[in-house]
Amino acid sequence: MLAENLRGMLVPVKKSREPRNLERERVARVLKRCENESDPRQLAHAVQASLGYLPPHALEVLARQAGLDEETVRRQLEADSEILFEPACTRRLEICSGRTCARRGGALLIRQARRSLGIELFETTPESGLRVEPFRCFGQCARAPNIRLDGVIQGAMTEKRFGALLGLLVRPRK
Ligand code: FES
Repeated sequence: MLAENLRGMLVPVKKSREPRNLERERVARVLKRCENESDPRQLAHAVQASLGYLPPHALEVLARQAGLDEETVRRQLEADSEILFEPACTRRLEICSGRTCARRGGALLIRQARRSLGIELFETTPESGLRVEPFRCFGQCARAPNIRLDGVIQGAMTEKRFGALLGLLVRPRK
């Protein structure tokens, strides 16, 4: 039903490279704040408190800080039922905050999402399970501003279409 409603509203962009991710920067900041901590579980919980989950790419830096190998850390953390390796959400909406997208309206889209959903970045709406994240450059700047919904990039987003999209995404399911 949602897919039908979205048809014609979104303009998918096919190719994208995997560029910098603001999540990595957030992980680095959290680990720097905990620079005297070497317990992988404590570090993982600190990252999870900031991002809502422990991204796979965090394992390597976390293991380095703990002075352990990545596999050992992975096993330890997998034994901790409180650690989430995937965000607890049903849909994932990323808004490009790269320079071109931000200038062409991406910054406004981020504000619009926070305001209309009542959540901050890296958070999930409690009822509809929509998670909103910034992402720095999908490598599709020509179609700016871009968003990525559940892994599919949608280019040339306008505030109007974005508002309609948000409305559909948070609509209670029947
Ligand atoms: S700045 Fe948004 S895709 Fe490059």
